[in-house]
Amino acid sequence: MSRMKTEIISVDILNPEKSLTDLKRAAEIIKNGGLVVFPTETVYGLGGDGTNPDAAKKIYAAKGRPGDNPLIIHIAKPEDVNSYAEAGELYYKLAARFMPGPLTVILKAKDSVPRETRGGLDTVAVRCPENKIARLIIEYASVPIAAPSANLSGSPSPTSARHVIDDMNGRVDMIIDGGECDFGLESTIVKINDDESLTLLRPGKITVSELSEIAEVNIAPAVIDKLGDGEVALSPGMKYRHYAPKAPLVLLDGEIEAQVKFIKEEQLEKQAVIGYSEDLDYIKKLLPEVSLYDIGSANDELTQAHRLFYILREVDKCGYDKIYAPLPVKEGVGLALYNRMIRAAAHTIINLRR
Ligand code: TXA
Ligand code: MG
Repeated sequence: MSRMKTEIISVDILNPEKSLTDLKRAAEIIKNGGLVVFPTETVYGLGGDGTNPDAAKKIYAAKGRPGDNPLIIHIAKPEDVNSYAEAGELYYKLAARFMPGPLTVILKAKDSVPRETRGGLDTVAVRCPENKIARLIIEYASVPIAAPSANLSGSPSPTSARHVIDDMNGRVDMIIDGGECDFGLESTIVKINDDESLTLLRPGKITVSELSEIAEVNIAPAVIDKLGDGEVALSPGMKYRHYAPKAPLVLLDGEIEAQVKFIKEEQLEKQAVIGYSEDLDYIKKLLPEVSLYDIGSANDELTQAHRLFYILREVDKCGYDKIYAPLPVKEGVGLALYNRMIRAAAHTIINLRR
């Protein structure tokens, strides 16, 4: 694609009202069919007019993403959904509890959402973000903003403006630097089924147990396991390899002593270890040659979520032979970490338990 001049604007997330002129301009760009990268509470989004098929095509081109992988439309208020999708009682129950916030709901689409935005599906993904900058731009644009994560296809989602600039400078009209994203992993995605149950398509900050207070939740098998040969993906995103670091990532399932022993026995030249804060001294003592990345305390999943994509981008700059990380537990926010990490590791899990 041809390169364009990208304007980069800083907005203070604690005081976005100081930047209303810039945010109105961002909204104008979107209304006129252009692309603006903006922060959300999960990851940065690459936004265009969700009612404009050409904007959807531009988004796919800027990301290098296949056109059959649909976009999420971002709305200012939960009830704005009515113009774009069929929403029933369960949607409003979810909205009352979790919106605005890091939840995306898959609903039957209305014709106002072009097929390009929906990747050709009959359904559409809807999300009402909490980030103030995101909300102001959507309000001023007065159209829903279609936005995938603002990374190049195949890179981790961007959680800071630095990541966005690395991937998107020259590919979009404007980048809004609103600091680090709060959570750091993408939104929880659920599909509302005809029988009023939910299917979890992507785990995130909003957990299965929280969702279960509202409705019955089934976890789509591809959230935890490899999609089998010939198996149909419930979400198009599941069939693409995601978040893949250049060096192979290996997930270790076992006590820290067994992990260190395994890493030592591999005898590779340039190894990186992503470890829990409390294990780093021990790892350093036994493996003085390895490069260490602190993902946060073992019981602090929010910090781990906040750091994961940042760390994956950092390790990619260093040309390691292999990267090792502890396998997260599949509970609470841990399920989101597990889901992202097994994908980044292409499902390479070493069982070190007896
Ligand atoms: O946190 C987030 O959700 C971020 C911010 C920017 O809002 N957005 C994001 O978008 O992660 P994206 O496009 O990177 O991931 C959306 C996922 C894709 O895997 C896509 O396949 C799936 O949602 N998806 C979108 N529409 C769908 C639909 N109608 N049915 C099933 N899956 C859908
Ligand atoms: Mg993405």
